[in-house]
Amino acid sequence: MGARSWLLCRLSLALPLLVKADGCKDIGLQNETLEADQPFAFNCTYPLVTFREVNITWYKNSSQVPLCKNTQSRVHQEKSWVLFLPLTWEDSGIYQCVVKNVNSCHRIHVNLTVVKRYPCGASRKGLPSLSNEYKQILYLRKDYSLICYLNFPESYVLDSIKWYKDCLEVKGERFIFWETKLLVINASVEDRGNYVCQARLNHTGRQITAFNSISVSIAERYENGGRVPKITYPKNNSIEVQLGAPLIVDCNITDSRENTNARSWKVNGTLVDDYYRESRRVREGVEKSVSFQQYKFYTVNITFLEVKMEDYGQPFVCHTGVSAAYIILELPAPDFRSYLIGGFIALTGVAVSAVLICSTFKIDIVLWYRSAFPSTGTVQDMKVYDAYVLYPKLPRESQSHDMDTLVLKILPEVLERQCGYKLFILGRDDFPGQAVANVIDENMRLCRRLIMIVVPESQGFALLKNMSEEQIALYNALIQDGTKVILIELERIEDYTNMPESVKYIKQKHGAIQWGGDFTEESQSAKTKFWKKVRYHMPPKRCPPSSSVQLLTHTSCNHTTDRREVNTGLITQ
Ligand SMILES: *[C@@H]1O[C@H](CO)[C@@H](O)[C@H](O)[C@H]1NC(C)=O
Ligand SMILES: *[C@@H]1O[C@H](CO)[C@@H](O)[C@H](O)[C@H]1NC(C)=O
Ligand SMILES: *[C@@H]1O[C@H](CO)[C@@H](O)[C@H](O)[C@H]1NC(C)=O
Ligand SMILES: *[C@@H]1O[C@H](CO)[C@@H](O)[C@H](O)[C@H]1NC(C)=O
Ligand SMILES: *[C@@H]1O[C@H](CO)[C@@H](O)[C@H](O)[C@H]1NC(C)=O
Ligand SMILES: *[C@@H]1O[C@H](CO)[C@@H](O)[C@H](O)[C@H]1NC(C)=O
Ligand SMILES: *[C@@H]1O[C@H](CO)[C@@H](O)[C@H](O)[C@H]1NC(C)=O
Repeated sequence: MGARSWLLCRLSLALPLLVKADGCKDIGLQNETLEADQPFAFNCTYPLVTFREVNITWYKNSSQVPLCKNTQSRVHQEKSWVLFLPLTWEDSGIYQCVVKNVNSCHRIHVNLTVVKRYPCGASRKGLPSLSNEYKQILYLRKDYSLICYLNFPESYVLDSIKWYKDCLEVKGERFIFWETKLLVINASVEDRGNYVCQARLNHTGRQITAFNSISVSIAERYENGGRVPKITYPKNNSIEVQLGAPLIVDCNITDSRENTNARSWKVNGTLVDDYYRESRRVREGVEKSVSFQQYKFYTVNITFLEVKMEDYGQPFVCHTGVSAAYIILELPAPDFRSYLIGGFIALTGVAVSAVLICSTFKIDIVLWYRSAFPSTGTVQDMKVYDAYVLYPKLPRESQSHDMDTLVLKILPEVLERQCGYKLFILGRDDFPGQAVANVIDENMRLCRRLIMIVVPESQGFALLKNMSEEQIALYNALIQDGTKVILIELERIEDYTNMPESVKYIKQKHGAIQWGGDFTEESQSAKTKFWKKVRYHMPPKRCPPSSSVQLLTHTSCNHTTDRREVNTGLITQ
């Protein structure tokens, strides 16, 4: 450590090696507080270092100039180590160890604080507290060892280790010296105090005296004595996580202070940082540690920017020393509540669509039901006709023709011939010479329905208005018998304000069916929308018990009735 080596080191610093520190991942900060005047060495340990070809470089503070590698220099780098032979208090500072390989760069920080050496036997109270390695515990009535932290590169040979307590050499049957350890048998309160371990370092013919000051306290109970690092989390457990979600998992480790285990996350036997080198989707976090008197607690997390399908079922293992524990990602089990909600929504949907279907296809369903399950019993209501057809007589030739076609040809064709209903149509079914009022009154009583055909007011309902036929019929229908009225609009009628009150009432209560077809007899079919609506309002078709055809075919509308012939010859205006 002469002026020559110092000069050599300065010379090597004069050829500065520019190092790009950017792009390096910081992986931890370690605090070291040590007494001056003792040799000290710090190893840059990181899992990458151990199984890969790497370049390790030490820097002091933010200097771009690496520490020199001349072994004669007081402060120098040797392999992965930084050595201080010995420490002076100006060595305090932040040291950076940059670990580089072809693909990655990692940086470890060491905050070194050098404090003045305290005199032999002085109490440490009021003095700066040393790194926790130098505070050790003995347990009452237990055998336990104190450790001399003299970690140096292999090329340094340690020998003649001696232990001192309060400046007196430790001797006696209760003490066993073993390598760098002092085993204290059946510790007692008297064993607390300030210890110093001292050793001789041999390196390339040089001899240096190394020592540690250790303050020893006595504890009642033995805690966390294991020397094997303990992973408190994970516990080989699975974690439910959604696809695409981010995830951070801590690896929590308790390790004894003297262990120099590295901690890392691996997948498929590879460090995650290497495994996901390109995508950087999964990364290992910066290690954090908290020191306790006899052990150290470490946390290093693994961060998934987003979970991908390939991650499920793959163990992500947290390693430290001989210990390992993994997590396995799982797709979340389907949520029971969402099942319930889904089921409820589905049921509601089914119910709503059932209601919709029922209202949309109500007519078809009713008609189908009537044909599928024809009522076998004849309704004994003393009625002769299924419907009485009431219609206005129109002044204009063309309209009048349309009305006659509808009433005298189309209605009988569909309702009578195709569906087997029996209609009473004034002008067809009355006998010549009968008093019209009597005919209407009598026959209205014999009808189950009143089919009323209306046209827009301007075109002639006024004509009908004055007819006793209409009034009598409506009177009978509405007041006396409670007969159902089927209102058919020949043309769309927007405005009912000028209609008779009775018609307004029917329209409001039962609505009207709008005639939509043409007036050609041949094209009429009971299966069109219009006729289905009419049939829906007609009485359920009475099936003549004799008609086996109907029972077999289940259709009420395609058979020919055995009713009397449609007598069109009787039409009179
Ligand atoms: C020092 O670190 C190197 C590389 O990081 C490692 O191979 C070696 O085992 C370590 N030595 C000690 C004594 O921890
Ligand atoms: C280490 O450094 C040497 C010289 O600086 C260089 O040739 C070598 O490629 C480096 N190796 C790695 C793994 O970075
Ligand atoms: C380094 O350690 C000293 C003493 O423990 C502390 O005062 C200082 O804040 C630390 N520096 C950093 C950067 O952590
Ligand atoms: C791990 O340790 C951290 C820091 O003490 C704590 O916040 C976290 O809850 C721990 N995680 C588990 C899973 O125990
Ligand atoms: C896992 O590692 C094995 C060899 O250790 C390799 O054969 C396999 O392909 C790797 N799996 C994946 C998914 O990378
Ligand atoms: C995980 O590690 C990263 C990087 O060290 C850190 O920024 C982050 O706070 C950690 N997350 C948790 C939840 O501990
Ligand atoms: C977890 O699995 C590892 C192997 O990956 C095994 O060594 C360890 O004992 C297991 N731990 C527990 C608590 O089962």
